Amino acid sequence: MLNDSIRYIANQLYCDEVSVQSIADKIGTPVYIYSLKRVLDNLARIRLAFGELNPHVHYSAKANASLAVLHTIVKAGAGIDAVSGGEIYKALQVGTKPEDIVFAGVGKTRDELRYALEQNVGWFNIENVLELQHINDLAAELGKESARVALRLNPDVTAATHHHIATGHKAAKFGLSIETVKEVLAHRDQYSNVRIEGIHIHIGSQLHDTEATRQAVRVALDCIGPYPDIRTFNIGGGMAVRYSPEEQIPRWEDFGAAVTPLLKEYEVILEPGRSIIADAGILVMSLLYTKVQGGEPIYITDGSMAELIRPALYEAHHEIMPVMKTSEAVSQKAYHVVGPVCESADALGHDILLPELEAGSLLAVLTAGAYSMAMASNYNQRTRPPEVVVAEDGKSWRLARRRETWDDLTATEII
Ligand SMILES: Cc1ncc(COP(=O)(O)O)c(C=O)c1O
Repeated sequence: MLNDSIRYIANQLYCDEVSVQSIADKIGTPVYIYSLKRVLDNLARIRLAFGELNPHVHYSAKANASLAVLHTIVKAGAGIDAVSGGEIYKALQVGTKPEDIVFAGVGKTRDELRYALEQNVGWFNIENVLELQHINDLAAELGKESARVALRLNPDVTAATHHHIATGHKAAKFGLSIETVKEVLAHRDQYSNVRIEGIHIHIGSQLHDTEATRQAVRVALDCIGPYPDIRTFNIGGGMAVRYSPEEQIPRWEDFGAAVTPLLKEYEVILEPGRSIIADAGILVMSLLYTKVQGGEPIYITDGSMAELIRPALYEAHHEIMPVMKTSEAVSQKAYHVVGPVCESADALGHDILLPELEAGSLLAVLTAGAYSMAMASNYNQRTRPPEVVVAEDGKSWRLARRRETWDDLTATEII
């Protein structure tokens, strides 16, 4: 979606003060472009939305782990929510203080746990009793006085979102069941090298209501009620962004208002990913060919599901717009916008209203900052695109990741 940073000025798409065409002319396509100004605005708006709770924001690196993005967010005082050793490594590379890192994830390996302990990360969000045992044992082995732990509760509430990104219902693989959390807490003396000081929930991403979150918070409060020394409540991420003008989503303030009365007594952690980076980013691609198949017009672009898998994976909708707007008088048609990848699922969008464009014209997929490059692959041996950031002042831009080369494709292989 268009916003204060990604907008048209005199019929040309801009990222802040920089014309998108001018970046593509220098760097080529496909290319991701991010507004760091928008990233910081989003971070500030989230802090405001939860104002009274004064939450610690731990940006969820899985949404977009580009070093430039991480660095900008960390410099602004946020911590990082990491779900792998690799994400912890990248967080440390950009100067995140170890105590400002939360290590989450349903299947942390012993090596990852050891690494995280050695690095003194601030929190371990536990999703398995054996994992808790591993941390307890590893902390003793490494001579760490104690590791700080939050139990991730599966509160058995069904979030209003796509079923692939709902995580809080009973059958989801995430978190510890209510009974298990109670059981662990009742026997927490068994884990003498860990301090269980927090509770964690994350019921899903792109949440379309706030009620399920409130319900989940209540379930969690019930579990920790008998343990007044548990003072930290991590409510995860999940705040939604608007992918189309019609999409109805709760405002971030609504999430804040929904949980504030319940959590006033707690130190609150938030793990927003999408809400910080999604609408700060676009994927710019070139039109290669036009085709009509079965009576339906198709635009074939040099962008594909390898660069943005959300439409193929979740049937997600993204707005797609020409970088150079044509005059209002030019009629528009509903196009399928597809990529070169050998899969019928390889589409960036269906029934997208666009004018007739010539090969070589640029198209921008909007709201493509989150779960885009982070989920990109080399499928079909495509090279992953570069990332460009427009600086916080909105005026200058730079390459934050170069385009991969064919040599990169073979660099890790052995014949
Ligand atoms: C535990 C946890 N925290 C935070 C997030 C970030 O979610 P979002 O990008 O929707 O804010 C996720 C994403 O799935 C997650 O699994």
